[in-house]
Amino acid sequence: MSAARPAHRVTTRHAQAIYPFTAAGGLGGRGAFIGRDSDGGAFCFDPWVLYDQGALDDPNAIVIGKLGQGKSALVKTLLWRMLLFGRRAFVLDVKREYGPLCESVGVRPVSLSPGGGVRLNPLSARPEEHAQTELLRAIATTAIGQGLDQVEAAALREALRTVRAREAEPTLPQITAVMFDPTAEMASRLQSAPERLAAETRRAALALQDLCEGPLKGIFDGSTSPGIDLDAQLLVIDLHAVRDSPAVGILMACATAWMSAQLARTAEQPGRGRLINVADESWKIIQHGGLGEWFQSNFKLARQFGVMNLVVLHKLGDLQAAGDAGSRAARIAEGLIADASTRIIYHQDETQVGLTRELLGLSETEARLLTQLAPGQALWRVGSRSFVVAHRRSRIERRLTNTDTGMALDAR
Ligand SMILES: Nc1ncnc2c1ncn2[C@@H]1O[C@H](COP(=O)(O)OP(=O)(O)OP(=O)(O)O)[C@@H](O)[C@H]1O
Ligand SMILES: [Mg+2]
Repeated sequence: MSAARPAHRVTTRHAQAIYPFTAAGGLGGRGAFIGRDSDGGAFCFDPWVLYDQGALDDPNAIVIGKLGQGKSALVKTLLWRMLLFGRRAFVLDVKREYGPLCESVGVRPVSLSPGGGVRLNPLSARPEEHAQTELLRAIATTAIGQGLDQVEAAALREALRTVRAREAEPTLPQITAVMFDPTAEMASRLQSAPERLAAETRRAALALQDLCEGPLKGIFDGSTSPGIDLDAQLLVIDLHAVRDSPAVGILMACATAWMSAQLARTAEQPGRGRLINVADESWKIIQHGGLGEWFQSNFKLARQFGVMNLVVLHKLGDLQAAGDAGSRAARIAEGLIADASTRIIYHQDETQVGLTRELLGLSETEARLLTQLAPGQALWRVGSRSFVVAHRRSRIERRLTNTDTGMALDAR
């Protein structure tokens, strides 16, 4: 069918006044605009489109580079631009720097801090009994710091069942109370007596009690605070205040449950936006027992669930940190790199280049380039193709991504 009206011809320069990203360079014009590639063309990226075209083996991406090169700025603008297309995102924010993005999107970050007034009920992420049992056991395991024995695992299941029979939404203090003082019915289901059961499961009860009344009091010990929308298009969990505490492990259990609930809903409603799962400052996150493994399994399941996992690491030299935790985290990080078909590499110091080249499988020319990249400029390895891209930010996005406020001359 021919067009009813004659085509309107205009130079690219003028067409850009209406639509700025006219040139389809790099990977084609589909996806979020990132910036300009070395030919001056617009560089756009969408892992799902590229996966569909067979250009990528998975939708995962890692961002690596030294301090202050614009890694987080890239992630924030990528989210901002993708959210406009209906994508959804879940962000673990360790440095408390996603506030301006949340504000622009119209959501509130969930800041976890003892006494901070924000409460999350880990058990409310999933309403099904089996899912809550799994969650409760994961929480107790993290709180104890060791695996559960059989009696504890069974008692937690029965305590949950007892509380569920009484309450619409079970909470940790209610479970703790039943663990300390099991009902006769609960004990008989476990072929035990209440006092004996209480004595045998005291360790788990004390650990849950400490979670509710110890240093993390006020975070996980009741119903989720009103006003927190776990179903929001952008969910940012601010871990700044609790980044070095066991709360991170508990949160991991909640996050897993939240993700599975989201994914189940996405499967039921195929029109729901695709999910981007972000960990900025991943080095800190993957050192936490459980969280690293969570990311690892997410990376493996990315294709199956259609989730884009996006992690930001500093420099790969961190991977050689000594100690058990260090080597465990290093193994996890290496696994993440292997499972990420998109690798975005910012400026690296000379001393880092050898290791980066080896771990990421870069050519000599690519490796040499890394020491010459300017802030905001990165080498994008997308599947087997490479691009040098200068990330561009609009005026609004500069405000969302400026992390130099402490360095401003007028900053107090
Ligand atoms: N594309 C860009 N071009 C120029 N400057 C940029 C660009 N992106 C970010 N910046 C500036 O660089 C500074 C550091 O950015 P950002 O916090 O994103 O870096 P980072 O790599 O995440 O740092 P860190 O490793 O400390 O987390 C910001 O203040 C920002 O304004
Ligand atoms: Mg950063």
